[in-house]
Amino acid sequence: MRLLLIGAPGAGKGTQAVRIAEHFGIPHISSGDLLRRHIAEETSIGRSVRDTMRRGDLVSDGIVMDVLRKPVEAAARNGGYVLDGFPRTVEQAEVAYLVARDIGASVQVALFLDVPREELIRRLVARGQESGRTDDTEDVIKHRLEVYEEHTMPLLDYYQRRERLVTVNGSRPMDEVTWSVIVQLQKVRREFAG
Ligand code: AP5
Repeated sequence: MRLLLIGAPGAGKGTQAVRIAEHFGIPHISSGDLLRRHIAEETSIGRSVRDTMRRGDLVSDGIVMDVLRKPVEAAARNGGYVLDGFPRTVEQAEVAYLVARDIGASVQVALFLDVPREELIRRLVARGQESGRTDDTEDVIKHRLEVYEEHTMPLLDYYQRRERLVTVNGSRPMDEVTWSVIVQLQKVRREFAG
């Protein structure tokens, strides 16, 4: 299964990606986690993206592709992946499509977690108070949501036209969302198998 998770900041992509990956026995690859690891390890990539991420802006496509290429290609050869946080723009989706086509591993399904804006803000403000993630302050959260609306929302139409797009109501309790996602993905898997 090669799955992309699309959703606004706070939609539950990371939370659900871990569970889906465990259920299907495939790796979870998160662009945000990989970039935050570079920042924590103070690599040159980390130093170059730190301020951009702190502001809630998008990191350049070149850096994101550099960070993701190896793990995604390796996972694609070994049964698939759950990719969370990438692509985030139609341009990234186009590049990813070409890379995947070359290795015969195009995306099978894109999953959209649909959550109302007020709930997103509530979740992220709460997480910011607990975890201190530097982009979880109210001003930056609002900016991240604007970036999402401008750059990432057009991907929904893109995947609706090109691949399979499954939409799940992500505003319910976590376990309900997980089960709903798994049921939908099992249906897709049966279609691919049949
Ligand atoms: P990234 O790490 O991808 O962050 P994000 O998209 O802003 O998403 P979040 O991690 O905030 O939310 P999530 O949807 O994963 O929800 P989560 O499960 O954590 O990106 C960070 C930055 O990296 C970007 O701003 C950009 O700078 C850069 N970047 C990354 N990818 C890039 C790319 N491709 N191109 C360019 N730049 C890129 O849940 C959030 C909270 O809600 C948690 O506290 C959780 O416990 C809670 N929660 C989850 N589900 C539920 C539920 N059902 N009910 C109640 N609470 C819930």
